[in-house]
Amino acid sequence: MQANKKISRHRFFRTLGGILMFPFFYTWIASIQRHKKIQAGNKELIYPLDLSAGVHFEDQIIIIKESGEFTILSSRCTHLGCKINKFENNQFICPCHGSAFDIEGSCVKGPAGKPLQKISHSIDSENKRLIIHLS
Ligand code: FES
Repeated sequence: MQANKKISRHRFFRTLGGILMFPFFYTWIASIQRHKKIQAGNKELIYPLDLSAGVHFEDQIIIIKESGEFTILSSRCTHLGCKINKFENNQFICPCHGSAFDIEGSCVKGPAGKPLQKISHSIDSENKRLIIHLS
């Protein structure tokens, strides 16, 4: 009888652990899928035109909306390719070696010597969409 209780308790905690882990696995799988989608040759990303003003860091790009105008930059640092994910004092800062880029992507502090790559985009006014063209 006691052995049955232990097995039952063991199963309960194993099941509970599985249930609690589900959100983590789901998020992990979703992030892999999104990454694959971009890398698998999906040439366009679509965002709503009413995206809030400011700087938005996405997987491989940075979307800047200022006075209703969009600028799209690659988030890959031109030094050694680290992902830029910080915007401070009107500059994008690379976390690896500290290169800094202005809001237009021009390099203002090395070691990177080249500007961030600009990504072409178009506006679909009819459907109120920003279309980003990945190459
Ligand atoms: S990779 Fe960005 S500064 Fe080195």
